[in-house]
Amino acid sequence: MDKIVVLDFGSQYSHLICRRIREFSVYAELVPYDISYEELQKLNPKGIIFSGGPSSVYNSDAPVPENKIFEMNLPLLGICYGHQLIVNKYGGKVKRANKEYGSSLLTIDNDKDLLNGIGESVRAWMSHGDEAEQIPPGFQVIGHTEGAKAAAIASEDKSIYGIQFHPEVVHTEQGTEILKNFVLKVCGANQDWTMEGFIDTTVEKISKIEGNVLCGVSGGIDSTVVALLIHKAIGDRLKCVFVNNGLLRLNEEKEIEEMFKDNFKVEFTSIDAINQFLGKLRGVEDPEKKRMIVGEEFIHVFTEFAEKNGPFKWLAQGTLYPDVIESGVSKGPAAVIKSHHNVGGLPEWLNLEILEPLRELYKDEVRKIAKILEVPEKLFMRHPFPGPGLAVRIIGEVTPTKLKIAKVASRIVEDELLEANLYDKVWQAYAAVGDDRAVGVVGDERRYGNIVMIRVVDSIDAMTADWTRLPHGLLEKMSNRITNEIEDVTWVTYTISSKPPATIEPQ
Ligand code: XMP
Repeated sequence: MDKIVVLDFGSQYSHLICRRIREFSVYAELVPYDISYEELQKLNPKGIIFSGGPSSVYNSDAPVPENKIFEMNLPLLGICYGHQLIVNKYGGKVKRANKEYGSSLLTIDNDKDLLNGIGESVRAWMSHGDEAEQIPPGFQVIGHTEGAKAAAIASEDKSIYGIQFHPEVVHTEQGTEILKNFVLKVCGANQDWTMEGFIDTTVEKISKIEGNVLCGVSGGIDSTVVALLIHKAIGDRLKCVFVNNGLLRLNEEKEIEEMFKDNFKVEFTSIDAINQFLGKLRGVEDPEKKRMIVGEEFIHVFTEFAEKNGPFKWLAQGTLYPDVIESGVSKGPAAVIKSHHNVGGLPEWLNLEILEPLRELYKDEVRKIAKILEVPEKLFMRHPFPGPGLAVRIIGEVTPTKLKIAKVASRIVEDELLEANLYDKVWQAYAAVGDDRAVGVVGDERRYGNIVMIRVVDSIDAMTADWTRLPHGLLEKMSNRITNEIEDVTWVTYTISSKPPATIEPQ
């Protein structure tokens, strides 16, 4: 399989470069910028991309890749900070400039290679404070904006390129075309990254492992796909365990048990651990603590199961690439945003090895696999649900009242979206609740009740999200039902913050 390697210099959106490339069926992998020359060689890339990043090349502690990487004679594309790195490395000059942030008009000066077929000018997304004042000898300017004279440069032998703008963000028109020109034409990579291929290689890899595998399944698409892939590889050496932690959606435990028993041939055990989880969460308000507690309790339950039903060598989980990036364990310089319980929260005492076959994939890629594996439509259209469940949708302490509110109100939101034929069109939809209360009037009486927050978002991969512009009539219906059907609720609000700056879950 042909591969493009992206060196991560710390931009929050470095991973988007990989995503865009994978969308046109070429495998792209994000690695820390300080990867060794030997490691990079082992990956055998067809081309290298330097991502953007927050640093300035003239700072003494500026991140730079190993020198030998420049001598590999592979096609190279630098984006933003990566562009400045190339300018600096090959003898040009980078200077501090006026900050340019947002969309600028990029005029194409040479449309031969990288900027081929994208027209005379395009809107390009800029986000930089430095710029190339003088381009290196042997390079030419192939595109400029009003603010950046050397917004796109190419070496004379047409193998090294630098662009000041971000082709990976949707605000850059023809950004994917620019990446395609680099990956397909300059690097000559084949479009051979398919989910069918991924299934074959993954099943083959897993079939070589020794020992039994315990797979924690949640009923969500990720862990279900993990279980099916492992089952394909090792059959009954896999045992699936579903944990009812009391933090699930309304009646979810029954639905999931039925779905597994009706559709899949895997061995399935359901464990009731409601008291154990809710007991540990009593009195805990801090969101990160709650995540850690839930993560650790899962491991306690799995370990106990493994001791009674083992021996097991592996614990399999449905961790995805965005979980890995957001937990800051991808080794790159991106900051920790939230620690996903299935990534950051594994205790040291765990004596099972971890198997995470989907660790490199985005959600839409997992959905494609689910389709190929004939997972029932009902499941794979199901919205994602966070591992720590309602513990992160309940702000403050998890109490029985707040649990009931979150469960019933979320069910109302989901039902109304289904009824309006909108459920499949949105990424996630639920109702969150905290300790804030407001006065309401019921009959002739004043009542002090909880405030519920409805959250409905559109997204492609959960890395960014936009709040969904639901029809007012639908919101009204949800609100009426929530206040009528849950007596502890007096007010209903709708959250209108996108990610960034917000996140999808409130905690
Ligand atoms: P945020 O709130 O970070 O969520 O914008 C991004 C996506 O990840 C889900 N999520 C989690 N999934 N374990 C998971 O398996 C977690 O700890 C976790 N936290 C958030 C969230 O539902 C959204 O789809």
